[in-house]
Formats: sequence, C-alpha cells, structure tokens
Amino acid sequence: MTTTAVTESGAALALDGVSRSYGGGAPALDGVSLVVPRGRFVAVMGRSGSGKSTLLRCAAGLERPTAGTVRVGGTDLATLKAPALTRLRRDRVGFVFQSLNLVSALNVRENVTLPLLLAGAREGRELDARALAGLAAVGLADRAEDVPENLSGGQRQRVAIARALVNEPEVVFADEPTAALDPVTAAGVLALLRRAVDERGRTVVLVTHDPVAAAWTDEAVFLERGRLVGRLDRPDEAAVRAALGAQTGQHLAVAR
Ligand SMILES: Nc1ncnc2c1ncn2[C@@H]1O[C@H](COP(=O)(O)OP(=O)(O)O)[C@@H](O)[C@H]1O
Ligand SMILES: [Mg+2]
Repeated sequence: MTTTAVTESGAALALDGVSRSYGGGAPALDGVSLVVPRGRFVAVMGRSGSGKSTLLRCAAGLERPTAGTVRVGGTDLATLKAPALTRLRRDRVGFVFQSLNLVSALNVRENVTLPLLLAGAREGRELDARALAGLAAVGLADRAEDVPENLSGGQRQRVAIARALVNEPEVVFADEPTAALDPVTAAGVLALLRRAVDERGRTVVLVTHDPVAAAWTDEAVFLERGRLVGRLDRPDEAAVRAALGAQTGQHLAVAR
C-alpha cells in the first residue's frame, strides 16, 4: 500500500503544497505534499540543509508555512490562533529532538508527567502510574526518581520517548533523535519508536539522514532543496543509500 492510496481525511498528518521561505534566496521548503496514515512510521530523509527540520517544524505547528496547508488529525493548523496551536502541540503531538529533551531540574518521572500536567492533569497517584507505565515500556521504571544528569544519552532519549508518548499523541515527531548516540544505543531507541507504532498504533515521523535509522520505518521520503523528490516503501538500508546517492538535482523515481 502506498500513501497515495490513503485519503487525507483519515490521515494522521497531511501536508498539501507546503512551502517555507526565510526572506530572500531559495525557499527552505518548496511545495511539499505528504500524507501520513495513522499507525505508520515514516522517515524524512535528505542531506544536510535539504529542509528536513523545516518540514518537521511546519508539520508539528512549531512554525507557520508561508504557503500550503498542514492538517494534523484533520485539523487545518492555519485555522488555529496561537493559543489553540499551543494546545494542539501540547495535547495532540509529541516531540523528540536530537538532544536537550529533558528538564534537568525535574526527575525522570516528573519529566514524563510534564505534558500531562501542562494539559491540566492533577498531580497524584494516577498521574505517577501513567508515567511509571510509560517508563516501564522503555525499560526505565527503576530510574523514575533519578535526575536526567545521572542517565546515559540513550537512557535520556528513552525518557524523551516515554514523555512524547504519554499523552497518546496523534503524531510523534522526532528530529534526528539518534544522531548523538552510538549504533547499538541508537538501535534501542529506534526499536522503541517501532514498537510504539506496531503495538500502540502510534504515528511517527522521523527526520534522519541515517539509512540505518530509515530501515526501521515503513516508508522513507526524500527531500532535496526543499522538494520531495522520491519515496521508498519498506526501505532497507541498501535501497536508501542508493536513493540518497542518486540525488543529483533530478527527481527520483524510486518505487513510486
Ligand atoms: N530559521 C531559519 N532562518 C533562516 N534560514 C533557515 C532557518 N531554518 C532553516 N533555514 C535554511 O533552510 C534550509 C533548510 O534547513 P533545514 O530544514 O534545517 O535542513 P535539514 O534539517 O535538512 O538540515 C537551509 O538552507 C537552512 O539554512
Ligand atoms: Mg535538521
């Protein structure tokens, strides 16, 4: 099944002709259309500067596109004023970044409960139980009362994933979450994202330049100079490397 067979209305995320310019020069994002069905793990790939992070920020409502439409779970983000957009980011999407994901003044459990507290949940046993369940799912229940500073980089990213999943978001956005990790630790983090999709039906958009990371996903899409230039279903590492190597400024025609 390809994404083109899926209607936008049933999608977790739909971008239609999304562009983003920063003043003069070429646009960072140039007419990107992308539909991500619920329960899919998608990699956004491309070289440094190709527009991956800009795509993720526009898709997640962290930044307004200069043209085009972004829908999260059917909601057109352009129709939301700033407070409603803030609520959507808080309640309906999850984020994992490359680093600096956690609040150092809070312990691990408190970091995981943060999105729920911000969404208005009351502190207490029920909240703690949810955080602990999330931490157990990433294998860190025994570190709940520890501070982030005492955790390894991989453990911190696992906490960040637990936090990104705790409010059962419609889409989890991850921007190079394994870039600072060694390959074995990175694989552990990617396996957690894979499980969130397979076992909990979550939708994950993973920005990465790493073919090994992309091979964990259901679909890889390729950006070049802000344009979507190709896609691969069930990408394996070799096919992704070939697709990245073939980027020459021409549009790719890989497994469309
Ligand atoms: N806030 C910004 N202001 C100006 N230019 C930006 C900004 N963010 C990104 N860009 C430019 O947009 C292009 C795409 O950047 P980015 O989305 O960060 O690419 P990637 O994540 O693929 O490395 C680059 O040319 C970058 O310099
Ligand atoms: Mg980037």
